[in-house]
Amino acid sequence: MRTASTLSRPLLLGSILIAACGTGSGSPADTDTDPPATTVEVTGDSFRCISDMTPVRGFWVDNLLGDLDASVAVAENLEGNTFPPGTVVQLVPQEAMVKREAGFSPETQDWEFFFLLATDEGTTIQTRGKDETVNAFGGNCFDCHAPAADHDLLCEQDHGCAPLPIGPEQFEALVAADPRCD
Ligand code: HEC
Repeated sequence: MRTASTLSRPLLLGSILIAACGTGSGSPADTDTDPPATTVEVTGDSFRCISDMTPVRGFWVDNLLGDLDASVAVAENLEGNTFPPGTVVQLVPQEAMVKREAGFSPETQDWEFFFLLATDEGTTIQTRGKDETVNAFGGNCFDCHAPAADHDLLCEQDHGCAPLPIGPEQFEALVAADPRCD
């Protein structure tokens, strides 16, 4: 594992627990410009209380274009499937993958990676993109998720990604501490 030692756990939890509350639901697009339904616009308001998303095997699924059923269906049966545009996948409140429109980024299978600040006032995007975005341990999201190419970049426990230095108990604690939830 390449990144585990770069931040201490107290610092991680400190930075993570800064959160507070707020709302935000999937807000697909700027209707002023009347974009086609497949355009995925992502702002802080695209993200919300993580436990209001749909749970699948310990991670959470949403869809910014309203096609939640399709996103959940793929999550529940990833075998050979690709998530539809607008899909949001999260493990903890501070990190997200969003499936952008087809052709957005072939190298990342059209996923965009986000590092987020969640507070009681809502969500702020700290960093986004393939090269820039790292997790709380300094590890680049895409570099670590890339081995899971055959699973549409979802790592889970056995898709070839290096392990994270925290596990299910900490994931659950971070979800429970999401300040955007009522
Ligand atoms: C050192 C490797 C590593 C880095 C860096 C990393 N991840 Fe992950 N990620 C994992 C592993 C391993 C899991 C599966 C954890 C589990 O379910 O036990 C995971 C799970 C996830 C999940 C849940 C779906 C899935 O793939 O299982 C999302 C969403 C996610 N990571 C997003 C991100 C984002 C966004 C970043 C950067 C801000 C990031 N990850 C950085 C290894 C990494």
